[in-house]
Amino acid sequence: MKNTPHKPKTGDLLKQATIADLVVMWQEREGAMSPYYPVIWERVKTGETVVEFGLRRGGSTAAFLHAGAIVVSYDLDLPDPRIELYRHLSKLAAGRWAMVYADTRVIPIPPCDWLLVDSEHTYDQVKAELRPDVVACVRKGIMFHDTIVHGVDGRKSQGGGGIWPAIEEFLAEPGCPFHLDYHATEGVGFTVLMR
Ligand SMILES: C[S@@+](CC[C@H](N)C(=O)[O-])C[C@H]1O[C@@H](n2cnc3c(N)ncnc32)[C@H](O)[C@@H]1O
Repeated sequence: MKNTPHKPKTGDLLKQATIADLVVMWQEREGAMSPYYPVIWERVKTGETVVEFGLRRGGSTAAFLHAGAIVVSYDLDLPDPRIELYRHLSKLAAGRWAMVYADTRVIPIPPCDWLLVDSEHTYDQVKAELRPDVVACVRKGIMFHDTIVHGVDGRKSQGGGGIWPAIEEFLAEPGCPFHLDYHATEGVGFTVLMR
């Protein structure tokens, strides 16, 4: 019988992947946030804590874990933890990652160094997420994804205006302790506010 070369299955490759491999995978698949990963890595340091609003495929999660951060991801639509990708990422994170089922419009968050706002891309949502009790818990900075593509108009399926006016209003609040540190001018958009 002719020997056919063994072609590794995707699942087998995944089992051997490191966090860095997963990050490369997202970059190769041109995940929407991947062009901005360097912006994350320039700022987030090993051992810092991140609260992530919006988990979905885990692209941002892997980027933060790659930076050496400790991450808590909140989502209303958590993936099945038995799915290989999440099981493997969780194993690689070795206690540095937790997924929490919660509505980011109302959930209190623990003290953290960074907050990523990447859930529903609408004005109302971001207004609700930038509540004083949430903002007070963030020691270093707040990151936002999709600030260009949903800056003016919110995601169509979600209705409502875009997220940029909510960010501008937050910065314009009297005594706001955050300032604009980074704002992408290309791609879908990524913005960082720092204390
Ligand atoms: C754009 S995706 C997140 C992408 C993720 N950061 C990544 O890089 O792969 C948005 C996620 O926000 C979640 N979401 C939307 N509204 C939410 C809410 N009120 N509370 C919690 N999660 C919400 C959705 O279920 C969805 O999984």
